[in-house]
Amino acid sequence: MKIFVTGGAGFIGSQFIRDWTHRHPESPVVNFDKLTYAGNLANLASVQSHDAYSFAMGDICDQRALLEAMPHGADAIVHFAAESHVDRSISGAAEFILTNVLGTQMLLDVARQRKVKRFLHISTDEVGGSMAPSEWFHEDSPLDPRSPYSASKAAAEHLVRAAGATFGLDYVITRSSNNYGPFQFPEKLLPLAICNAMQNNPIPVYGDGLQVRDWIHVADNCRALMEVLRHGKSGETYHVGSGEPRENLYVLRKLLHIMRKPESLLVHGKDRLGHDRRYAVSCEKLEREIGWTRKIALQDGLLETIQWYQQNPRWIQAVQHRNKPISTPLPLSTSSFEKVAAC
Ligand SMILES: NC(=O)c1ccc[n+]([C@@H]2O[C@H](COP(=O)([O-])OP(=O)(O)OC[C@H]3O[C@@H](n4cnc5c(N)ncnc54)[C@H](O)[C@@H]3O)[C@@H](O)[C@H]2O)c1
Repeated sequence: MKIFVTGGAGFIGSQFIRDWTHRHPESPVVNFDKLTYAGNLANLASVQSHDAYSFAMGDICDQRALLEAMPHGADAIVHFAAESHVDRSISGAAEFILTNVLGTQMLLDVARQRKVKRFLHISTDEVGGSMAPSEWFHEDSPLDPRSPYSASKAAAEHLVRAAGATFGLDYVITRSSNNYGPFQFPEKLLPLAICNAMQNNPIPVYGDGLQVRDWIHVADNCRALMEVLRHGKSGETYHVGSGEPRENLYVLRKLLHIMRKPESLLVHGKDRLGHDRRYAVSCEKLEREIGWTRKIALQDGLLETIQWYQQNPRWIQAVQHRNKPISTPLPLSTSSFEKVAAC
């Protein structure tokens, strides 16, 4: 299988490429990435000399660059490329609309021109909006995005479905919950908390910290993506999650406990604008139809993730030096709380 991956230098895309080349060493992979602040080729150091792997720098909004980079006869596009940070979308939505909406349409057009056999679109559970206390987000639930980020991701999903209905594109969509694991840029909640705790710096918590999120290890998500790519039914959407939504405070306390750091590092501030209270994604369809199950329990995944950050200070310094995270851990002020990641 020849695959064309967009956004493969980011957190999830790079895990996908590392795992794919490990599992399918003969299968050619082109990684097409603009290398924004979130893209980092160091995430792919373990595969860069691999014969089947190649990298092309480019913007998914640039159709010519896409056509130049995409090999003839590609079997599948795996579309990760996106602006992915909710807080940045609140500060300025334009880039999100360009990449997540226009860029997805450009890619769909190229997929059609190049007769790519399958389009795997990576979406998010955030398109469902905030769930009531006992409510679960199912694949056929209505979409109710409430941030510029999730609205742009919902728009992208509609464009993918429209390409399926209008042009017969063979597509599958996944919506995963919050991913965590190694190589995640430290502006998102868990890597930020780990990096701050390592330095004994305060960890900003949005509002009361009781927002509920479902945490899935990135390797479990990428295993689901590979299964859906091969076995997902055309035109279907599959949810990926742990089935165990937890309050942010619960996860942060667990993390501090593993790191043997005091809970006094947690400092509450103003809540995020329009902050969704609860995400709870049902992944029963993926388990039933594809046979996927989560393998990495939160406790084990957190321990492994913490150890990875502890063992890779040079990676942390390099990404922080090259790209300033939107969140500014110190000094803490009301405005820094507004910027810190908690989705
Ligand atoms: N991280 C999560 O918890 C999570 C959860 C659900 C869904 N998702 C979705 O998964 C995908 C990947 O998320 P991530 O956390 O790895 O994101 P990320 O921000 O770490 O990486 C995004 C990658 O896309 C690239 N990119 C951005 N704009 C581009 C453009 N115009 N052209 C080409 N490349 C571009 C960046 O350089 C980067 O390598 C996104 O579509 C995101 O919406 C993420």
